[in-house]
Amino acid sequence: MRAVDIVMKKRDGGELSREEIEFLVSGYVSGNIPEYQVSSWLMAVFFKGMTARETGFLTDVMLHSGKTIDLSGIQGPFVDKHSTGGVGDKLSLILAPIVASCGVRVPMMSGRSLGHTGGTLDKLESIPGYTARLTEARFREGILADGFAMTGQTEEIVPADRLLYSLRDVTATVESVPLITASILSKKCAEGAEALVFDVKSGPGAFMKTPEDAERLARSLVDTGRAMGKRIIALITDMTEPLGLTVGNFFEVEETLDCLEGTGPADVMEVTLALSERMLVAAGKAKDAESARSRCLAVLESKEARTRFLANAARQGGDVDRMLALRGNYRAPFHAAVTAPSSSFVTAINAYGIGMASVLLGAGRSKTSDPVFPDVGIIFAKKSGDRVEAGGEVCTLYARDEAALAGAMDLARKAVSFGSEKPDPIKHILKEISAL
Ligand code: URA
Repeated sequence: MRAVDIVMKKRDGGELSREEIEFLVSGYVSGNIPEYQVSSWLMAVFFKGMTARETGFLTDVMLHSGKTIDLSGIQGPFVDKHSTGGVGDKLSLILAPIVASCGVRVPMMSGRSLGHTGGTLDKLESIPGYTARLTEARFREGILADGFAMTGQTEEIVPADRLLYSLRDVTATVESVPLITASILSKKCAEGAEALVFDVKSGPGAFMKTPEDAERLARSLVDTGRAMGKRIIALITDMTEPLGLTVGNFFEVEETLDCLEGTGPADVMEVTLALSERMLVAAGKAKDAESARSRCLAVLESKEARTRFLANAARQGGDVDRMLALRGNYRAPFHAAVTAPSSSFVTAINAYGIGMASVLLGAGRSKTSDPVFPDVGIIFAKKSGDRVEAGGEVCTLYARDEAALAGAMDLARKAVSFGSEKPDPIKHILKEISAL
């Protein structure tokens, strides 16, 4: 086999066999096929796409490029949730303890913030002492003891994705549905989940900007996941506006505690419960969404989910007493508020603009090596549809220096719109696609 023939076949719109995909991907991982040929192939895939069979082959080849997590000896069911990335999206922190409290094991391998989107691991690591870099033994221990554990991808898991993703990043080939599908699913299959629930975000704050694009990705994830033997549900959810009232690492931990104590914002709870319900159904722990919901509400009511969140925080090295003491006052010293120019309604809050403002504040990163800070970010007093008086606060930004604050304020002001008419409420759950 020659790499050039495989590139040519894809360039001309042909369907590649498993052997051809394996030859190219393994050759690249082992250093035998040069980057320029793989780059050409990625661009050919970008333009010509892949059939469902090819996407499945690519996912499987990538999955087997490294190690997989061994959960044998632990009683399942194992179910995970994956979000395609949003702003103010702290749902994993809330739903993992809820779902674990209902008897489902959640082996959660999450990511860090990049670009305008936040990352679960950065949020958790804003808890003093918390580590999301677990050995496989500690990951297993957490799942056994608390029903869930939170870790990052290690060097050994799906090495093909790390290499291919870096190459996609510099060859303008990230936004390809089959490449995204294989990238996400190979990692999710490596962590040992039997069923997966996807939160595919749609809107300006999401990777997929329109509901149609989000649906194409959701269908591809569902179809490929099913072909890999997983039970899969995808929800397409709105990401035009940030979720909840906080954007920023520790600020989102505080909001997680609010949600687990029954005082969280309605939008966060709506999407969290919708995803949690699907996880219970996919796990076979509830026969339908309604009974799943009442189980989720019961573990919130009894505070069992909160107790599990705190148990996980402590098990992964977090200082729970300090976290609770910092709650409400862990704020960087420089702050300023976006205010209303006149008495009006907040008509929109652009999630992308707010996400980029949070990167300037130091809550997120533009490149993987950037540091992130726990005590910076944005806290909303109003969301779209709320009435605000002239000079009234819409949100407050917290920064570690004046320059960061000034740049972020500029973006945040542009992200908030006002008008005299109350806007229609945002519909958070747009569509469900499932293959159980
Ligand atoms: N997230 C991933 O893990 N992979 C992609 O290709 C895109 C988003």
